[in-house]
Formats: sequence, C-alpha cells, structure tokens
Amino acid sequence: MNFLIEKPFIALFLILICCFSCQKQTSNYDVKFSDAHSFARPDQVAVKNIDLDLKIDFDKKQLTGRARLTLQNKTATDSLFLDTRDLEIFEVLADGAPTAYRLGKGGDYLGQPLIIAITPSTKTVTVKYATTQASALQWLTPAQTSGGKHPFLFTQSQPILARTWLPCQDSPAVRVTYTARIATDANLMAVMSATNPVEKSADGVYQFEMEQPIPAYLIALAVGDLQFQAIGERSGVYAEAALLEKAAKEFEDTESMMTAAENLYGPYRWERYDMIVLPPSFPYGGMENPRLTFLTPTLLAGDKSLVSTVAHELAHSWSGNLVTNANWNDFWLNEGFTTYFEHRIMEAVYGKTYAEMLASLSFSDLEDKINELGADNPDARLHLDLDGRDPDEGTTTIAYDKGHFFLRTVEKAVGREAWDRFLRGYFDTFAFKPMTSAVFLQYLRRELIGAGGKLDKQLQLEKWIYDSGIPENVNLAKSMEFERVKTEIAAWLSHNQASSLQTNDWTTHHWLYFLRNLPQKLSMEQMSDLDITFGFSKSGNSEIANEWLQKSIVNHYEPAYLAIENFLMSVGRRKFLKPIYKRMAETPDMLPMAKLIYAKARKTYHPISVNTIDAILGWE
Ligand code: BES
Ligand code: ZN
Repeated sequence: MNFLIEKPFIALFLILICCFSCQKQTSNYDVKFSDAHSFARPDQVAVKNIDLDLKIDFDKKQLTGRARLTLQNKTATDSLFLDTRDLEIFEVLADGAPTAYRLGKGGDYLGQPLIIAITPSTKTVTVKYATTQASALQWLTPAQTSGGKHPFLFTQSQPILARTWLPCQDSPAVRVTYTARIATDANLMAVMSATNPVEKSADGVYQFEMEQPIPAYLIALAVGDLQFQAIGERSGVYAEAALLEKAAKEFEDTESMMTAAENLYGPYRWERYDMIVLPPSFPYGGMENPRLTFLTPTLLAGDKSLVSTVAHELAHSWSGNLVTNANWNDFWLNEGFTTYFEHRIMEAVYGKTYAEMLASLSFSDLEDKINELGADNPDARLHLDLDGRDPDEGTTTIAYDKGHFFLRTVEKAVGREAWDRFLRGYFDTFAFKPMTSAVFLQYLRRELIGAGGKLDKQLQLEKWIYDSGIPENVNLAKSMEFERVKTEIAAWLSHNQASSLQTNDWTTHHWLYFLRNLPQKLSMEQMSDLDITFGFSKSGNSEIANEWLQKSIVNHYEPAYLAIENFLMSVGRRKFLKPIYKRMAETPDMLPMAKLIYAKARKTYHPISVNTIDAILGWE
C-alpha cells in the first residue's frame, strides 16, 4: 500500500524537479540588455519589425522616405528611444497621427537618440526622414564601376552605421524582421539582405522581405547595373556584367561549402545564400549580410585560391547571424567562432593539408598582432572594453585569430566528436539570440567540460577570454607543406638562384608563407632575382601583391613602384591599403609618394578606409 502511494509521489516529485531545473537553466542563460553603443532601451519597448519605403536619389546622394516600426511595449512606457546619426527628420507619427519627438544629446560616432512620444497602446511609429551624409552609404560615380555607365550605391551597417541610414534600435542584441520598398532608376537593380529579384524591374521599384529576425547591423542594400547568375540550387551571384561569369566560376564551390557547413552545425536557416561582388572600393573582404554576402572583387584571383572568405561569410550564417554577440565587447563570439568554423568548412571541402596551411597562417597573424599591440595590451583580450570608443577602432584581428585558436584548443582537449556535438547544440539552443562571453562560459561548463574539474583547470578558459597574450596550452597548427617552403627559403638565402628553387606545385598559400618568412631586409639583387623569376610585381593575386608590395617598400625596390601606385589606385579594401600606406609612412623617402598617390586615390575610397588612411598619413 505504502509503495503504491509512494510511486506517483516520486514521479510527481521528479517532474517538479525537472521543471524547476529546466526553468532555472533557461533563465540563467538570459542576457540582460547592456550596450554602450546604443541609445535604445529595448527592455522597455522593443522594435519587432521595420517597414522601409525609400527613394534613392543618385544626384543628391540621398535616401528619402519613411520607416514604419512595429513596437512591443513591455513596460507601458511613454517614450521610444531610437538610434540615429545624421538623419534629417521631417515628421513622426504614432499609429498614423503626428506625435512629439526630439533629438537628444549624443556623441559623434554614436549619433543622437531620437526620442518619440508614444502611449502604452501605440502599435506603430512612422519616421519620415532623409539621409544627409550617411557614413554607411557609399555613392559611386559611373567611373568607379566596371561598366562605367551607371552609378552604384552600397551600404555597410556593421558595427554601428545602420543608424546613419535608418532610425532603429542599433544594438546587435535587438532583432527585427523587415520589409522594404526601394525605388531607384529604371535601369538599375536593387538588392538587400532579404528576398531578392533576379531581374531588373521595368520601373526601378523593388520589394523585399526578411522574415527571420536580424540585428540592424545586418540590414543591407546595394543598387547598381547588376545581373544575377545561379551557381546551384540555393546559391548564386550578383555582379556587374563584366565580372559575372568570372565570379560564378570563382565561387562555384559554394554549394559544397553549404553542405559541409550543414553537416557540421545544422541546417542553413536563411533559405538562399547569394553573393554580390561589389566595386573595388568596398572596404572589406566580405560582409555577412544574411541571404546576400557582400564581397570585394579582390577575391577574384581566377583560381579559387581566396575563397576561404566565402567560407568565412557563410559560416557567419550560424556564428553571428544566428547566435549574435550581445554587444561589440564580445565581437570575438561572432568573428572567432566564424574563423574557427571557416577553417572547418575549408577542411571538409578542400582537405586537411590545405586547412592546416590556413591555420598556420592564422597563427602567424595572431603572433604578429600580439607583437604589434604588446603582450599586456587590453585590446589583445577576446572580451573587450570598448565603452567610450568607436567599436570600429577598438576591434582588431585578435577576435578572429585568437578566438579561432581558443576554440581549436578546446576542440583538442575534448575531442572533435564531443566538440562538434556541443557546437551543434550551441547554435540550436541560442538561435536568433544574443550571446555574451559569460553565458558562453556557463553553457560550455554545463554542457561539455564540467566546472572546477581537471579539464576546466587545464583549459584556462578565463585566461583565454579575459587576459591578453596567448596561453601556453594553445593547440598549435603545423603544416608540413610550410616545412618544404622553409627549406627553399634556406636554400635561396644560402646563395642559390631563385630559378633553382622547387616551387612547381606551390599554391597561393605556399607563396604567402614564402613571402612572409623572408628576412625583412633584402638587397636589390635579391629583390630582382625574386621578381624576375616569379613575377611578383605583376601578380594578379591581391594577397600575394599585398605581401610583395610591402617588401618592395621596405627595401626601396623601385621596379615595383608603378605596381604600388596601380594597386593603391584600383583597390579599396582596407586590409590592403592600411599596411601599404603604413609601410610607406614609416619609410621616410616613401612618404611623399604615398601622399601623392593618396591625393588622387582618396576620393575613390570608402569613408571607412579614408578614416584609417587619413590617420596613418596625418591627412588634413
Ligand atoms: N563582419 C566582418 C566585417 C566587419 C567587421 C565589418 C567589423 C565591420 C566591422 C566580415 O565577416 C569579415 O570578417 N571580413 C573579413 C574577411 C575574413 C575572411 C577575415 C575582411 O573583410 O577582411
Ligand atoms: Zn567575419
């Protein structure tokens, strides 16, 4: 009898315990809103959807129209705080009727809060506005495009520039769905980080929808004389006509990358993965705008050797776009996870030998960066303190390479199988949610390594995330291919002719390792021996050219000066401009040449690149 009573009682007890602990589990993982780079107060009232209706004026370099925001008022508050910067506000409506608003006190890169009077029952707020000198927008003249006939426009919203072209809650912790109506010239095509057209419309008007909730920094738009070419079932490329074939060929492995990524960390949740190849002034290698990655044309090497950037932007479809850093202090949760995932995709598609070469280069980049910053520099931490600073200035490649090596180290300690299962669960559990270092650590300890045990101590998780430098337990990368390159470097340095080196089967990455591991100082004879034999000054590979041109500056190798000028006049990617101008600025007799080239090139560069190079050259 006793027994019979006891059993249901135990069952009930177990159910209660389970409910309690499950509840505790999810609430423990809640990320409280905290973002020093946003004026928004989404814990009071959250914007859930944005409906844009914008007209593009290429003559005035202006977007004009309205944004209608759908609200969820959680605390019955009477004010909505939005982020804006350099927007001209004409009128604000609450549920269709004019309402009071003001621009509050702000800061330069932060812009100003737009404070709007609402009531607890206000459903939508409509802001009628125009852009003024939006830093997110680059307006290109026809001459800056490959076709040369039509203007071009593209946005770059990450990290906090979305507010310069639409009023929004510009924090990565806030997610919205969006729809848009974009009106442009009849002979142009508009595309967004949303459902996209594959042909030009007759009237230059396009409709878009992004039905998955995304942070504002992923809202993106490009307009130009574009065409579309399919690559596979779920992927394709947008580009100007002259680049379209080449781009589709270069990126033809995209479907294999998608399959590899899905096999690792679960279904691709954005339906299509298309890419757009932008004009050369695009300041980045790539930008992971959902459904439509933005890419630099400098990836078009002709031999697929630079496609790891596609793997990178694709990987962001999980790390970053699905599980998102809650604020920019945890930028590494986007970029470090993505760099790790990028290397896993590359390994799955192209094999371990290639992947270990890439990993070895990533480690050298990490060491170089730490040497440059100094081992105690707080910016050499994964978790950053960017309060009071423009996040664009405070973030470095540390997030990428140190983040990558941290995750590689955990992988090695727990074994790949357990690690992959864990990561798969991480992306599923936190899909469409913000993430912080603290919550990641908590989840990692709870789900994978336990707290306070031997494994925990051995891993030194806090040291990896909150200290500068590289912990000594790092899982190094060793590439046997690069051992071969080292042998050839040694042979050349002991006075062999470049033509006698065994380089027949070398790929772009062998060459990059070769160039990066030569002594800094080389004689004129040595430089010309290399150049005549390997044709570096004429290289059409942007990564190789970048390394060689830097070498040429440091060693005053005049035969490459014309190539330096051509490169700086035709490439706008900041990753390349920055080291080349920097080396020229550090080499006294090259500074005048740098300034001469910059005087001509500056107007063709993106404001993001201009900012960086102005500082390097002390440009007024
Ligand atoms: N999301 C970044 C680009 C970015 C970062 C833009 C921070 C604005 C602020 C993108 O995914 C990226 O990392 N691009 C890299 C290429 C990658 C292969 C390392 C780049 O542009 O160099
Ligand atoms: Zn990235």
